[in-house]
Amino acid sequence: MIGQLSRGERQTALLILVALALCGLVFAIAGKDDPIGVHGAMILVLSVIGVFAVIGHYYDPEPSEDRLGEYYDDPIRAGIGFSIFWLIIGLTVGDWIAWMLAYPNFTFDAAWSTFGRLRPVHTSCVIFGFGGNALIATSFHVMQRTSRARLPDQLTPWFVVLGYNLFCFLAITGYPMGITKSKEYAEPEWYADIWLVIVWVAYFILYLRTLARRRESHIYVANWYYMAFILVMAMLHIVNNLAVPVSLGHAKSYVIWAGVQDAMTQWWYGHNAVAFFLTSGFLGMMYYYLPTRAKRPLYSYRMSIISFWGIVFFYLWAGSHHLHYTALPQWVQTLGMTFSVMLLVPSWASAGNALMTLNGAWDKVRDDATLRFMFVAAVFYGITTFEGSFIAIRPVNALSHYTDWTIGHVHAGALGWVAMISFGAIYALVPSLWKRKEMYSPGLVEAHFWLALSGTTVYVIAMWNSGIIQGLMWRTYNESGTLEYSFVDSLIAMHPYYIARAIGGLLFLSGGIVGAYNIWMTARGARRPAQQGAAGYTPVVGLVDEPALRPAE
Ligand code: HEM
Ligand code: HEM
Repeated sequence: MIGQLSRGERQTALLILVALALCGLVFAIAGKDDPIGVHGAMILVLSVIGVFAVIGHYYDPEPSEDRLGEYYDDPIRAGIGFSIFWLIIGLTVGDWIAWMLAYPNFTFDAAWSTFGRLRPVHTSCVIFGFGGNALIATSFHVMQRTSRARLPDQLTPWFVVLGYNLFCFLAITGYPMGITKSKEYAEPEWYADIWLVIVWVAYFILYLRTLARRRESHIYVANWYYMAFILVMAMLHIVNNLAVPVSLGHAKSYVIWAGVQDAMTQWWYGHNAVAFFLTSGFLGMMYYYLPTRAKRPLYSYRMSIISFWGIVFFYLWAGSHHLHYTALPQWVQTLGMTFSVMLLVPSWASAGNALMTLNGAWDKVRDDATLRFMFVAAVFYGITTFEGSFIAIRPVNALSHYTDWTIGHVHAGALGWVAMISFGAIYALVPSLWKRKEMYSPGLVEAHFWLALSGTTVYVIAMWNSGIIQGLMWRTYNESGTLEYSFVDSLIAMHPYYIARAIGGLLFLSGGIVGAYNIWMTARGARRPAQQGAAGYTPVVGLVDEPALRPAE
C-alpha cells in the first residue's frame, strides 16, 4: 500500500499521521479522567503505528508511471474488507439485542452491554460501517469506470477509506463506554464529528477531481446519486451536530439547538440520513451494477434523472413526519406528511426502472444469485417506500409510531433494500477486483441469497405483526372508558414475535458469514476442486468503456 504512494505522498501521509498523533496525545493527557482520554490513547497508538509503517517503506522505489494507465482499485478492496468486517459485528450485535428484547437478562449485568449502549453499536456498525464502506468502495469503482478516468492520486482515496474507518472505530468503541450525544444516528461526540467533516470534504473533492479528469463527455446518472449522498450528508452532519464541548478534556458536548427546534433539526437530519445515506447512494449502486450485471441498458434513462430530482427535492421536506402529534406546529407536520406521500412517485420511478430493466433478462435473474440480490432489493425498495409514504400519513402514524411497525419498516429497508443491493454489488465487484473469473463458490452465493431472503422475510413479518398488535392493544378501551390492556400485557403478547425476529436475524447473520467466507476465499485465490483448470480471469488492460451504460434515449 505505501509502496504505491509517490515520495511526495509519503511525506504528506507522514505529516497527517504526526498531526493526528499529536491530537491523540492532547486528548489522552487532557482527558485522563474522562473516556475521551481512552480515545486519545487509541488515536495516538494507531497513528504511531501508521508513522512507523510509512517510515518503514519511505525509501522503497517509487511506483512506475505504468500505474497511471490502469484504474486504482486497491482502496476499493480495503473498503470492501472493512464493509464485511463491520457487517459481521453489526449483525451479531443486532441479533444479540434482538434476543435481549425477548430475554432481558442477556445484558450479563454489565453497564457496557446494556440495550441502550449496544443498540447504537448495532445501528452504527450496519449503517456507517457496513453501508458507508460499501458506498465509498463502490463509488470509487463507479466513478472511475463511468468516467474512464483513474483516481487523481493515491493518497486521498486511502485517506478517505482509513479516515472514515477511524471515525467508525471511535463511534463504535465510544458507546459501550457511555460516550454519546444521544441523537439517533448522530451519536458520536464532537471530536469524532469534526474528524468526519475533514474526511468527508476530502471525499467530495476527490469525487469532483475524478469527474474533472473524465474521458467520457456524459456524467452517468449513478454519479449524481453518489454525489447527492456525499454533499447532502455533509450539510446534514454539520448542521445537526453543531455543539459546544465542555472542554478539550471531556467527550461531552451540548448541541446548540434546544426544544422543538432541536427535535426538528434532528429529524430533518434523521430522515435525510435515510434519504441520502440509505437511499441515494444505494440507488447510485443500483443504477450501475444492475444494468451492467444484466447486460442491458437502463429501461429509461430519462426516468432515472426525473427520479433523482424528485428524490432530492421531496425528501428534504419530509423529516417532520417523525414528529406527528408533538409540539411541532401542525402545518409543519402536514408539510412533512404531504411531501412524504409525494415521494412515492420518484421512489417508484426508480424501483420500476430497475424492474423494467430486467425485462428480457429474467432467465439471468433465475440463474444468477448476484442479479437476484439486486432484483429483490428493487422489490423491497418499492415495498419500503410505499410503506413509508403510508405510515407518514398522520392518522396511520398514530397507530404505527412507538410500535414495532416502525422497526419492521426500518428493516424491510435495511435488510431488503440496503443490504441486498450491497450484497449484489459486492458479488458483482469482488471477482474483477481480485482478478478472478468468478466467486470462489457460486453455490455459496446462492445459499447466502436464500438465507438473507428468508431472514428478512421472517424478521419483517414478525415486526409487522407485533407492531400492529401493540398499536391496537394500546388503543383498546373497555366499556368503562379505561384502557383494556396494561403495558405488560402488550409485552407478553410480543414475546413470540421477538423470538421469531431473533431467529430471522440469525438466518440473516448466517448468510452474512457464508458471504464473508466466500469473499475471503475469492480474494485469497482459492479454487474449488471443480474449478481446477478452469480458464482464469482475463485482465482488462487500460481504461475501458462500459457499453451497457450509454443512455438509452
Ligand atoms: C418514500 C420513502 C419513505 C418514506 C416516506 C418513509 C417514511 C417513514 C416514516 C413515516 C417513518 C416513521 C416515523 C415515526 O413514526 O417515527 C420512517 C421511519 C424510518 N424509515 Fe422510512 N420512509 C421511506 C423510505 C425508507 C427507506 C428506503 C429506508 C431505508 C432503510 C427507510 C428507513 C427508515 C428508518 C431507519 C426509520 C426509523 C427512524 C427512527 O425512528 O429511528 N425509510 N420512515
Ligand atoms: C441480523 C440482522 C439484524 C437484526 C437481528 C437487527 C436487530 C435490531 C434490533 C433488535 C433493533 C432495536 C429495535 C428496537 O429498538 O425495538 C434494531 C434497530 C435498528 N437496526 Fe437492526 N437488525 C439487523 C440488521 C440491520 C441492518 C443490516 C441494518 C441497516 C443496514 C439495521 C438497521 C437498524 C436501524 C436503523 C435500527 C433503528 C431503528 C429505529 O430506531 O427505528 N439493522 N435492529
